[in-house]
Amino acid sequence: MLILSISKTMAKAGVTSTSLLALLLLLFVKFCASDTSILNRKAAPRGRVVSEDGRYVIVFHAGGVFTMVHVFRFDENANLLKINGSLEVFHQAQKTISSYAEDPAAILSFVAPLLEKAIYAVPTNLQPETPVIFGAYDELYLLGEEKYEKILDVVRGLFSESPLLYKAEWVNILPAATQGAYLWESINYLMGNVGGDYSKTVAVLNQESASVQMAYAVSAKAAANAPKFPGVEEYITAHHIQSNNYYLYSHGYFPFGAYSVRTAILKYTNDSYTYCVTNGYNVQYNYYGEMYNVRAAPSGSSYEKCRANVLQALHLDATCYVENCTFDGAWNGGGGAGLEKIYLTNGFQNTGADVGITTHSKPSTDLRLLEYEKFAKVACGASTFEDAHNLFPSVPLFDLPYLCMDLVYVYTVLVDGFGIDPTKLVTAADSVPYGDSSMRIQWALGLALELISSNHTKMQDITNVFAPSRTFVQIV
Ligand SMILES: *[C@@H]1O[C@H](CO)[C@@H](O)[C@H](O)[C@H]1NC(C)=O
Ligand SMILES: *[C@@H]1O[C@H](CO)[C@@H](O)[C@H](O)[C@H]1NC(C)=O
Ligand SMILES: *[C@@H]1O[C@H](CO)[C@@H](O)[C@H](O)[C@H]1NC(C)=O
Ligand SMILES: *[C@@H]1O[C@H](CO)[C@@H](O)[C@H](O)[C@H]1NC(C)=O
Repeated sequence: MLILSISKTMAKAGVTSTSLLALLLLLFVKFCASDTSILNRKAAPRGRVVSEDGRYVIVFHAGGVFTMVHVFRFDENANLLKINGSLEVFHQAQKTISSYAEDPAAILSFVAPLLEKAIYAVPTNLQPETPVIFGAYDELYLLGEEKYEKILDVVRGLFSESPLLYKAEWVNILPAATQGAYLWESINYLMGNVGGDYSKTVAVLNQESASVQMAYAVSAKAAANAPKFPGVEEYITAHHIQSNNYYLYSHGYFPFGAYSVRTAILKYTNDSYTYCVTNGYNVQYNYYGEMYNVRAAPSGSSYEKCRANVLQALHLDATCYVENCTFDGAWNGGGGAGLEKIYLTNGFQNTGADVGITTHSKPSTDLRLLEYEKFAKVACGASTFEDAHNLFPSVPLFDLPYLCMDLVYVYTVLVDGFGIDPTKLVTAADSVPYGDSSMRIQWALGLALELISSNHTKMQDITNVFAPSRTFVQIV
C-alpha cells in the first residue's frame, strides 16, 4: 500500500523517477519473495531437491481491456505442473496500457503489483532462471512507435530491476500472426494433440479486438514448397513443442478485429447512411483519434445491404500474387489436413455466446456457421433498439447498435473471407478440459511452452519469441 501510493505520486513527477521507483519496488518485491520461499519450504516435502520444483515461466498479456499475468510451471519434459493446486497462477487488472500514452510511468501502478504477485508464486531459488515475458496486443501499433516504445520502456525498466530472468526484447508487441501460432500451440497441447502427426491437430480461427487470425499445421513438404513472399512476414514458421516439430501457417489480418473492423466497414458509408446499425442510431465512432460517422438508414438495418458493405470491406478481389487466397490479399496457406477441424475462439465465440449460438457455461460448442447467418438476419431485422434489446438481452448495451454489423461480419469473414463451408461442423471454445480441471484458451501458454521446449542450453539465447522464424534453430 505504501509503495503503491508512492508510485502514484512519483508517476506524476515524470519518467525520470522510474529507476528510483523500480528500486523501491525491488525492495518490496524481494521482501515478498523471501516470504514466499518460507511458505514453500514449509509446504514442500522433506528432502525435496530444487529440480523437482520444476521450471517456471511468467507471461504478461497486455490486452485491450485487461492487463494480465500468468505463471506456469513445467517439468523437465514441458508437461504442465500445478502451482499451489492450480494449472496456473493468474492475476489481472482492468487497465489497458494504451490509455497511458501521455503518462507512461503511470502504468507501474498496475503492472508492478501484477509483477509482485507473479514473483510471489515462484520459489526464490528459481527466480533468477525464471523468464518474464511481456506481450502487448497489436492495437498498440496505432499509437505510433515513439509512444508505444515509451510505454514498453517503462515495463523494461521495472523488469530489469526484478530478480527474474529478463531480456529487453522479451518486452514487445506480439504480432497477430504470432499470437495465432501460440494459440494453436495452447489448444493442441491441452487437447493432447501434440506428439502426433500434424494431421491430428486442429486449426484455430481467432478474433481479437484489432485483428483476426488463422493458424494451422502444414506438412514439412508443404512448408518447404510454400511460396516465398519477399518483404512480408513469413506465413509459415517452425515451432518446437516438447520434443516435436511443427510447421504452422499463421496470418493476422488488421484491422479486421471485433472493434477495428467497424471502421473498415463504416469508412464506405462515412458520407451516407449505413444499413448495419439499429434504426435511429446516429453517433460518431472514434477509433484512435479517427472519426467515423455512424448514421442509421431511415429504413433501418438490412441484412442484404449490410452484407454487401461487409463484403466490400473484406477486399476479396485484392491482388494476392498466388493461388488460394483468403481476403485482403493474403495467402490461405494451401489448406490440408491441419485445417480439417476448426476451433473458433475469443470474439467469434463471445459474439456467439451473446446471442445464444454458443455458451460460456461449457468449454465448447459445436455449431455450423449458418447459425451466425440466421441470427444476423434476426438482428438486422430488429426495428428499434428496444426490439433488439428484447431479442438479445445478453448483448452489452454499447455493442447492441452494432449487433447486425458484428454478426454479418462474423459470418462473412468466416465463410467468404476464410472460405469455410457454412454447413461444416466447427467448434467454438472458451477453454479446453485438461486433467481434472480445464484451462482457458490463451496464447500465453503456447508462448511459455515454446520457451520451455527450446533446446537452447541457455534460455537467454532465445531471441525470436515475438517473431518465430521459418527454420528450426540449430544448436551447435
Ligand atoms: C497458495 O494458496 C494459499 C491458499 O489459497 C494462499 O494463501 C497462498 O498465498 C498461495 N501461495 C502462493 C505461493 O501462491
Ligand atoms: C468522416 O466524415 C467526417 C466529416 O463529417 C470527417 O471529419 C472524417 O474525417 C471522415 N472520416 C473518414 C474515415 O473518412
Ligand atoms: C492451392 O490449393 C491446392 C488444393 O488444395 C493445392 O494443391 C496447391 O498446392 C495450393 N497452392 C498454393 C500456392 O497454396
Ligand atoms: C534442436 O532442435 C532442432 C529442431 O527440432 C533439431 O533439429 C536439433 O537437432 C536440436 N538440437 C539439439 C542439440 O538437440
